[in-house]
Amino acid sequence: MIKKGIILAGGSGTRLSPLTKAVNKQLLPVNDKPMIFYPLSVMMLANIKNILLIVNPGQINSFKSLLGNGSRFGVNINYKIQEKPKGLPEAFILGEKFISGDNVALILGDNFFYGQNLTKTLEKSSAHTNGARIFLKDVSNPENYGVAKLKKNKIQNIVEKPKTFISNKAITGLYFFDKNVCKFSKELKPSKRGELEITDLLKKYKKLNKLKFELIGRGAIWSDAGKIKDLNNISNYVKSVEEVQNIKIACLEEISLMKNWINKKNINENIKFYGNCEYSNYLKKL
Ligand code: TTP
Repeated sequence: MIKKGIILAGGSGTRLSPLTKAVNKQLLPVNDKPMIFYPLSVMMLANIKNILLIVNPGQINSFKSLLGNGSRFGVNINYKIQEKPKGLPEAFILGEKFISGDNVALILGDNFFYGQNLTKTLEKSSAHTNGARIFLKDVSNPENYGVAKLKKNKIQNIVEKPKTFISNKAITGLYFFDKNVCKFSKELKPSKRGELEITDLLKKYKKLNKLKFELIGRGAIWSDAGKIKDLNNISNYVKSVEEVQNIKIACLEEISLMKNWINKKNINENIKFYGNCEYSNYLKKL
């Protein structure tokens, strides 16, 4: 079982500047709620209640004033500072004490997942204990991502931002790892761009024949919000789904209530916390 998760919500957000000059990327709005709600909802849907939120220096208080210690959503949120964006695997070095020899999930704070069967896939994947598991999605611009080449339903090769085409299966920003992840991360050396690379970490698991994957099919969408176009697309997508279906995507209180982690009284407290707004009106209907 995977019971712990790390959300990596630091980074410089250069591509979204000037939006990110004064505000962390993960606190920008995606339709009606801050971006961080979306990866947090993915963790919760995977039944992960113990969460480490890694943020930039000076930004803990902004996240805390929004999420607190997580008890409002029936989860437990701890915070840790990443001094500089030195790469995704640094999460497991900074989070070693939090992980304390357990299995752990990692999600990037600017990643958006939504769609059919996703919850089932998440629950199934978080139940595993051995090796590493990644989530692949077909994209039209694989040169911008880490990609995996499959052969006979196995991962044959993984390459970071391939210059020539090897596969259109992008490695998305959600990863499940077994207890070896801290040890393996500490063995990594920075790449030419000066970062620890997640593909190098995955290659260690691959070498041991312990890298598994799930495909995110056509019924679900995945995108990161790294560029303005993506941010706007995701925001518009959420708006359309929420309006057409009369539901909310990534309503943390709704997920928590469904899982019996909080009760109606907690919902009322959350309504008070948010004040008179459309999000509160939705909570009132739960
Ligand atoms: P990126 O999109 O690679 O980087 P960024 O957010 O700094 O943006 P830009 O490239 O425009 O400067 O990061 C993906 C996600 O991972 C994002 O949510 C930030 C987070 N991240 C960290 O928290 N620490 C890190 O060391 C890295 C590399 C990323």
